[in-house]
Parts: sequence; structure tokens; C-alpha cells
Amino acid sequence: MSAVTVIGGKASEDLARKLARKLKANFVSSELRVFPDGESKVTISAKPKGKIIVVNSTYPPVDTNLMQTLSLISKARQFSRQVICAIPYMGYARQDREFLQGEIVTLSVIAKLLSAAGASKIIVVDMHSMLGLKHFTIPIKNVSAVPELANYLKKLRLKNPLVVSPDLGGKERAKEFAKFYGTNYIALQKQRDRKTGKVQIMTANLDGVKGRDLVLVDDMISTGGSIVKATQFLKKQKCGRVYVACTHALLIDNAEKKIKKSGVSAIISANTIPGNTSIVDVSGVIAKAI
Ligand code: R5P
Repeated sequence: MSAVTVIGGKASEDLARKLARKLKANFVSSELRVFPDGESKVTISAKPKGKIIVVNSTYPPVDTNLMQTLSLISKARQFSRQVICAIPYMGYARQDREFLQGEIVTLSVIAKLLSAAGASKIIVVDMHSMLGLKHFTIPIKNVSAVPELANYLKKLRLKNPLVVSPDLGGKERAKEFAKFYGTNYIALQKQRDRKTGKVQIMTANLDGVKGRDLVLVDDMISTGGSIVKATQFLKKQKCGRVYVACTHALLIDNAEKKIKKSGVSAIISANTIPGNTSIVDVSGVIAKAI
């Protein structure tokens, strides 16, 4: 087999090491220095050989991690024409369309930057929307952490479990999760004020959740507002325990605390964003895509 090198960006070093082990590839780490003015200085620790896979998520600080990813791609391109860039969590993925007149579809700018830096292919995990993939002109593969998350939740032996999406946009994800889990699902109706960001659950009273343990499934948790509102609503319907399964747990500020306070028993997320809740490893699904 020809040589493969995984370059781990600082935002995804642990995941990159796991991926290198799965692929039996060389691993090259990166060193980072952030200057007092905020500029990043990235250095790779060795010469990469063969096909190169750059791994770096672009969670907060989003622009800084994005710049580091672009720098790594650009460096990798000096050594190989084949530079696959795995961005497990793609920041800006929610800016995939012009919601309000005059808004810039920043995801399309990101797509241009990644190709211009030298990426020949992109791999993402649970991209926020399929529309987002359309902004890329180089091949992009979206892989899913949902089967792994469902397998993990299954081990918790919940009581008469029901899968719930906090919004209609996540209905297909909940359906897929429920299929892997082997149970049924529902989707709530959520409304977000595009100017203030405030979330409201619009669903009226629900039959069929009373006494059941629920798994709230979402692609990401940012401020926790969606999960808190959904949990408060579901608790009013006298459900059993509420678990949250999501791919990307950004958990901005005190989101984790707010979510727990609303009555959630546990948050289970993937290691696309490292943190307290990132229990499920996605190196295997990324390796398969390579
Ligand atoms: C929205 O469509 C997404 O799927 C998430 O539900 C949302 O981005 C979560 O954001 P927050 O945690 O701030 O409510």
C-alpha cells in the first residue's frame, strides 16, 4: 500500500491520532503559536509522505481554527497533490443560505477558501444541511455519527424509549437514529426568531410520551436554547428521563449547566468537538470514507 500521512491540527489532535492508527498511516503533529495580536503560527513536526489527510475541526474560535486548517492544507499541498481535508465539525455550516436579505452565505466563501488552499477532497461529519454540501466545487463527503451515537444510547437500556427531534428540520436525522436504535420517533415544531435567535416550541400537547424515556437527537448544540426549550416542553408532557444525543457539542458558555438544569439526565456527543460530553469516536467512520 502506498504511504499515507495524517496531519493533526491542534483542534482535532486526538481524533487525528486515532484516525492515523485506524489507517495504519504516519502521523505528523502540528505546533501552534498564537501571537499577541491573535495571528496563528502553525508548524508541522515532520515531512509528510504520500497521500495526506489533514484533520482539523473549526469549532470556536472558529475563524482561528479555520485559518489554521487553511494553513495546514496549504503546507500539505507542497508535498502532495492529494490532500484530503477532514473537518469533523464544519463551522459556518448553518450559514448555508440567505435567510434575510443582504446576508452573506459565508459557507460558500469557506468552500472557495478550502479549494484555493489546496484541498482535493473534503470529509465532514453530520453537516448541518445537505444544501451546505452544494457550495463545494471539489468532492465533499458527509459521513454520519448517528449509528455510533445510537449504539451508545442503546447500551443505556432506556425505558420504552422514543427518539425526538427538537425541530422539523431534524426529522430525517431522528428517523435514522430511531432505525439504528430500533424504536420510533417524533419531531417537534420549533421556531427561531432570525433576528434575536430566540427559540420557541410550537407543538401543542403530545400524546404518547407520558412515562417514556426520550432521546433528543440533534446535529449540534450551541447555546443549548433548542434543547432546553424542548426538554421543558417534554417534561410538561410527563415524559420519563431525557437523554440528549448530538454529533457536535459546542456548548457555548454555560450551555451544559442550563441543559442539565432543565432536566436532561446526560448529554452524549461525538469527538468532532473534544469536551466533557464527547464520548463517541468518529475516527472509524472517517477512516471508512478515506
Ligand atoms: C438548528 O437547526 C440546529 O440543528 C440546532 O438545533 C441548533 O443550531 C442548536 O442551537 P442552540 O443550541 O443555540 O439552540
